[in-house]
Amino acid sequence: MFGKITTLVATAALSAALISGSALASSPITIKFAHVVAENTPKGKMAIKLKDLVAERLGGKVVVEVFPNSQLFGDENVLEAMLLGDVQMAAPALSKFDRYTTQLQIFDLPFLFKDMAAVEKFQKSEKGQALLKTIEPKGLVGLGYLHNGLKQLSASTRMKVPADAAGLKFRIMSSDVLAAQFQALKAVPLKKPFSEVFTLLQTKAIDGQENTYSNIYSQKYFEIQPYITETNHGLLDYMVVTSKEFWMSIPDDIRPQLKAIIDEAIAYGNKISADKDLEDRQAIIDSKRTEIIMINDAERSQWVEAMKPVWQQFEKEIGKDMIDAAYQSNM
Ligand code: SIN
Repeated sequence: MFGKITTLVATAALSAALISGSALASSPITIKFAHVVAENTPKGKMAIKLKDLVAERLGGKVVVEVFPNSQLFGDENVLEAMLLGDVQMAAPALSKFDRYTTQLQIFDLPFLFKDMAAVEKFQKSEKGQALLKTIEPKGLVGLGYLHNGLKQLSASTRMKVPADAAGLKFRIMSSDVLAAQFQALKAVPLKKPFSEVFTLLQTKAIDGQENTYSNIYSQKYFEIQPYITETNHGLLDYMVVTSKEFWMSIPDDIRPQLKAIIDEAIAYGNKISADKDLEDRQAIIDSKRTEIIMINDAERSQWVEAMKPVWQQFEKEIGKDMIDAAYQSNM
């Protein structure tokens, strides 16, 4: 009798182990990738590319689920959610890492980079790569830089020179550098989540905002903002990020392969970002809903002169050597 019970118990334990073993073997690692922009943007397309490449090369082992348009989390809470394990990947704007590192503030300094080639050069340099690691002490892993492009100013009134921005309310991302930039123009900066910008503009709670052509187009700001001043004054770039806990939980035989796929998806996103910028700029022009105001060299110098004191303001926090290195990438 005793022998029979022992055999039954042993058989039950063995089947439970087999069931849980096969369940484990058949359940892939799920990566929830949350972002705030539309799918037809450099970041949206990069995320879809990542999902497709992972399905093609790591199918059955890893699956990527993409949640665009702030469906899962906004940038204001996505990193906290990541540390809690509720989301595994995101690519917030570099301007939104203030709470985790002040070093990335360098990317918000106005007129620091003359074009995206300079941004790319700096990010690939030793110093640029070191900045990716500044979030590690907070339990986050920077997987790479992803481009969007240079920012323009949109407003309800015509702006040619900095004095035209004085007194206007502008929505900004959660960055103290961006706040200082608008204060330097004697304008009023308001830190607000991306998902609220359209309504704030539509209800005239704010007068303007700064963003790239791809966001101005995909979020339809051009339909409610009659003027866009092409200043190219700042950068909108992202860091593709995950949590250290999640990253290290990926088996050693999968992690390098996954990293290579992430690199490929980022390279794809970076490649299409310049074309997307031009394409969406043209679509905005074709819509005839807004006027793109071009500024001449003398007007541009005025914007530079008005905004550049911000560099000095943040020099201590960011480091003069870092700012100099970034500036040198324009040469
Ligand atoms: C984004 O491109 O991810 C959002 C940028 C913003 O908040 O303006």
